[in-house]
Amino acid sequence: MSQRLAGKVVVITGAASGMGAASAKLLASEGATIIGGDVNAERLEAVASEVQAAGGKMVTLVGDISTKEGANALIAKATEGEGRLDVLVNNAGIMDNFEGVAKVEDQVWHRVMSVNLYAPMALSRAAVQWMKEHGGGAIVNVASAAGVGGGAAGAAYTASKHGVVGLTKNTAIAYAPAGIRCNAIIVGAVATNIMESINQEKIDQEAMAQFGKWHGVTPGQLQPEDIANVVLFLSLDESKMINGATVEADAGWMAH
Ligand SMILES: NC(=O)c1ccc[n+]([C@@H]2O[C@H](COP(=O)([O-])OP(=O)(O)OC[C@H]3O[C@@H](n4cnc5c(N)ncnc54)[C@H](O)[C@@H]3O)[C@@H](O)[C@H]2O)c1
Repeated sequence: MSQRLAGKVVVITGAASGMGAASAKLLASEGATIIGGDVNAERLEAVASEVQAAGGKMVTLVGDISTKEGANALIAKATEGEGRLDVLVNNAGIMDNFEGVAKVEDQVWHRVMSVNLYAPMALSRAAVQWMKEHGGGAIVNVASAAGVGGGAAGAAYTASKHGVVGLTKNTAIAYAPAGIRCNAIIVGAVATNIMESINQEKIDQEAMAQFGKWHGVTPGQLQPEDIANVVLFLSLDESKMINGATVEADAGWMAH
């Protein structure tokens, strides 16, 4: 079968680990040139080496996408470096410490909001400005069960992912006439390195005891590749009728 993303350029944030790394490998195997961004230089280079060893193309940029400069630089790596941008995958994200609102520290709130919500906005802003003038494109936002439900994580993470869902729907409606689609994936529990972003000593045990009841009905843990398959589908023209959607990839968790 011919490669379904041949000639396309795809920006993926958080491409050094978990779902971002799995998406980079899968979309590169379909012929896309991957522009992979992350703060973790070592892991990012390891993923790029794997992609290249498999015959794919991946360009890397080490930087913090929670700053305007970092976000714009990653998009410019595609638009200026490669001369095109077809797909933006807003994947990078960090956890909070499962704090209910009574325990939220301002510093944690602002950090989670800047990585999980400001960055997808800033990247989408730069991407849409370019896509509007160049025939459209697709944006895939990696949201979470915490983007629609209240019991998956703390107040900051939950608010940030609900924000991502809102950003997704708004972007989908505003730029449909320009041929830009924007969808969000409601991701269930996936085996990745995201727990490294939790400060174990600060976990809010009282709130966690409540969230644990909802965690308890998770039908199962997913693998990063399971989500990469959804990222791929939402990147392809085959999903052209899907816009502004929240696509659940959670093994049925949200059905509970
Ligand atoms: N793992 C899960 O169970 C789960 C569930 C639902 C949603 N998600 C979401 O999936 C997405 C991917 O997470 P993952 O589970 O693969 O985690 P991960 O920690 O394995 O990978 C996330 C990557 O993002 C990078 N990153 C973090 N902050 C960054 C910044 N400011 N600039 C650039 N890169 C940055 C990290 O270095 C890391 O490589 C996140 O948005 C997360 O919220 C994860």
